[in-house]
Amino acid sequence: MPRLLLALLCLGCGFRADAEVDPALLALNCLSCHREASAPAADVPALAGLSASQIRQDLLDFKYLRKPATLMSRIAKGFSDEELRAVADYLAQR
Ligand code: HEC
Repeated sequence: MPRLLLALLCLGCGFRADAEVDPALLALNCLSCHREASAPAADVPALAGLSASQIRQDLLDFKYLRKPATLMSRIAKGFSDEELRAVADYLAQR
């Protein structure tokens, strides 16, 4: 198999639920949509000003379908509860 293909297949390797992932890296994914207030993407609420516990609760509610969402339920399901907690703490402390 060509090396490039192997490298592409491995892009998801760091995102296994049991892996220790740097919350700063997880947050890059979030911030691609949740940009800073100066340039918000249409229909994406800003995260600035939310506390860690608010973000964490929202993420768990999206993941377990307690809160309606167009996109966030699918995104939150890709992470363990522990990773969601870590990324919430990171985003609130920026
Ligand atoms: C593909 C774009 C996209 C990505 C990536 C994304 N979000 Fe979201 N987020 C949204 C949208 C759109 C909403 C509004 C709810 C919905 O319709 O899904 C939202 C809502 C939220 C809310 C609720 C905010 C509020 O005030 O209601 C939180 C918290 C949140 N996202 C956190 C995150 C975190 C943390 C990540 C990274 C793990 C993330 N989001 C990644 C698009 C995105």
